[in-house]
Amino acid sequence: MTEATAPTSAMRFDPEIRQRIAAGQTPAISARHLQHYYGTGELSKQVLFDNSLEIYPGEIIIMTGPSGSGKTTLLTLIGTLRQAQEGELFVLGHSLHAATKSGLRALRREIGFIFQAHNLFDSLTATQNVRMALELADPGAGRRAQTTRAQAMLEAVGLGERTGHKPKQLSGGQKQRVAIARGLVHQPRLVLADEPTAALDEASGRQVVELLKKMAKEQQVTIVIVTHDNRILDVADRIVNLVDGSIRSDVLVQETAIVSQMLIKCDVFAHLSPRGLAEMADHLLCETIPAHQTVIREGEAGDKFYLIRTGRVSVQRAAQSQPLAILKEGDFFGEMALLTGQPRNASVVALEETVLYSLSQDKFRQAIAQQASFESEIRRSLFDRQ
Ligand code: CMP
Repeated sequence: MTEATAPTSAMRFDPEIRQRIAAGQTPAISARHLQHYYGTGELSKQVLFDNSLEIYPGEIIIMTGPSGSGKTTLLTLIGTLRQAQEGELFVLGHSLHAATKSGLRALRREIGFIFQAHNLFDSLTATQNVRMALELADPGAGRRAQTTRAQAMLEAVGLGERTGHKPKQLSGGQKQRVAIARGLVHQPRLVLADEPTAALDEASGRQVVELLKKMAKEQQVTIVIVTHDNRILDVADRIVNLVDGSIRSDVLVQETAIVSQMLIKCDVFAHLSPRGLAEMADHLLCETIPAHQTVIREGEAGDKFYLIRTGRVSVQRAAQSQPLAILKEGDFFGEMALLTGQPRNASVVALEETVLYSLSQDKFRQAIAQQASFESEIRRSLFDRQ
């Protein structure tokens, strides 16, 4: 029988990511206790405080936060353009602290940078500007092959008709798309983008975002986007929010949406506001329970509330041969002892491997306190279950 996994943040549930962690896959980016300061001595100003973060190949991360919150600094540290003073940073399997200069140069070739200041060469055409990235990344490739790839990339960002134009003949949005093509043409394994869609209209922004999504999903390219553009939030697998140099939340978007949907389907949570639901989802811990393991023991004191993510459990009383209920995905249990202060009124046993979200008694109480109607709803369900 396998051991139950230690509870982890709900945001680590994503089945695909769990499989990768289980398979021992190396994260594309791993930051541990990263700190960064600008300046030295008395003038030194700390801009990043003890940040830890893991990003897996093929994930699209959107970093948000007020200006000055440290997002761009974090992006430049990941991009090896600056070195963090404290903490560890691994990018594409390499420790940046241990890397030699030539190691860093080689690593940079695997990264695609898309920065706001597009820095295109005025005297070169769109194709030549894009091709330059290939000449640097892959000097051995033939010129003709490089030109073909540069043009195909320009086509992919919707500039197939403008390949021979120089920056002065292009609009702001078109220039930005040339910069995007230049950042992606050498097929990087990691793309770091700072406000890539800010200068683009809705349709061009969407086109660029779809292209990034395709690269992430088909080629396992890891993509980190710093942006204020909420038109593109839907592309993110995770949203990392930085405030005053610290990661305040790291939300696996789809999972939060799934959990919120599950919660809202429970009558008792149906009245929580979307914000209340998301907050609750944020506090849930995820644990995997092997088949036949007891989650709750009749007669013990209650400490947690549970929501079933996948799998089935049986609710049973020692004195009765038949289970009281079989609960499945989306059902919850363990609320009664928390509400009444009485011991657990039944045992709950996993019938198969079951993934549970749990909420501590404190957080459960907070959720109840937030909403007057919530307590009466949950009491009603309590009554139904007696
Ligand atoms: P609690 O008493 O905290 O721990 C045992 C849990 O089993 C209880 O909360 C309920 O969530 C659940 N439970 C008890 N009786 C029933 C029932 N008849 N139907 C469904 N669930 C139940």
